[in-house]
Amino acid sequence: MRAVDIIRAKRDGQPLSPEAIDTFVRGVSTGAWPDYQIAALLMAIVLRGMTAEETALLTRAMVTSGDRVDLSSLPGIKVGKHSTGGVGDKVSIVLAPLAAACGVIVPKMSGRGLGHTGGTLDKLESIPGFRTALSLEEFLAALAENGCAIMGQTANIAPADKKLYALRDVTATIESIPLISASVMSKKLAEGSDALVLDVKCGHGAFMKSIDEARALARSLVAIGTSAGVRTEALITRMDAPLGRAVGNALEIRECLDTLRGRGPAELTELVVRLATRMMRLAGQATTDDEAAARAREALASGAALARFGRLVARQGGDASLVDDARVLPQARARTPVPAPCSGVVLAMDAEKVGRASMLLGAGRERADAPIDHAAGIVLEVAPGDDVRAGAPLMVLHHNDAPALEEARALAAAAVTIGDHPPVPPPLILDWIHA
Ligand code: URA
Repeated sequence: MRAVDIIRAKRDGQPLSPEAIDTFVRGVSTGAWPDYQIAALLMAIVLRGMTAEETALLTRAMVTSGDRVDLSSLPGIKVGKHSTGGVGDKVSIVLAPLAAACGVIVPKMSGRGLGHTGGTLDKLESIPGFRTALSLEEFLAALAENGCAIMGQTANIAPADKKLYALRDVTATIESIPLISASVMSKKLAEGSDALVLDVKCGHGAFMKSIDEARALARSLVAIGTSAGVRTEALITRMDAPLGRAVGNALEIRECLDTLRGRGPAELTELVVRLATRMMRLAGQATTDDEAAARAREALASGAALARFGRLVARQGGDASLVDDARVLPQARARTPVPAPCSGVVLAMDAEKVGRASMLLGAGRERADAPIDHAAGIVLEVAPGDDVRAGAPLMVLHHNDAPALEEARALAAAAVTIGDHPPVPPPLILDWIHA
């Protein structure tokens, strides 16, 4: 089958046969297809779309382009979790030990931050000594002992996705529900969990800006997981303002510690408890949502989740004394407040702008190989609905040498909209999509 015929078929709006999809993914993996033909087909898919069946076939071919982790040596139902990414999204770092403390086995493979959103691996690596590059044997041993482990994806998890994602990034072909679905689910299915809970972010700070787009993506992800025999469900959650008060790696770990102590921001705690609830239900660890949520809250209040996190950190080489004393985390030398320009009520806090400002301070990266400053970031002093006085800090920028400090400060200030009347807060959980 020739590449040009496959590209032409999709360009003309025809569904691709299973053979055509296999040929494409094999061509990507082996290097037989040149980048210009891969990019042409990607653009045809963006413009013409894919049926649910084509998307499932594409996902399956991408899974089999690499290894599939075998978790069958671990007893019990293994439940994975994935977020489509947002600003201040530190959920996995609290959720994995929390769900493990409630009896769920949580094998978590995570990614790094790119652009305005942060990455779980970067946040964890702000803990002195913490290793995210575990061997598969170390990962399985940590899961068997502690019920949770968080590592980076191994090089051979869905390698076709790595090639495709890099090309999509530079050819304006990221924004496609079939391509995002196949990209996310190929990696998740290769990780070998029995069930999967997805957090599909929706709003200004997310890939999916509208609830209709978020629902379409969530349905597509759930359909792929279900057709592959993995019980999959998705919560669609709001990502207009950053989640919690801290944005930036070490700052977010501090907030995770507070949350694991039961003293975190209400919205972050609520989201973590809701996701833990679904994970416990899928793992058969609770018979009702109310029972599961009560157990999750108790694991936070009792310190059981925090103790589990301490063991996770120690098991992965990190300095577990941070559980008692967060001062072991790196701290920035300088703090620059961003004052309110007028008095009023905070109407909105634009997550994308806050994320980009934090990146400019050094907390994130534009290119995948760029270094980051683990201490840099932003602590929000206000949230939508709060009253502010002119001159009082809206947020505090934490930075070391930050050549783009002025740009970051302007962007951070522009993120906040102040008005006269308190906004009506939209719900945190916008929908629940399940098979
Ligand atoms: N995250 C992924 O892993 N892939 C996409 O295509 C988009 C977000």
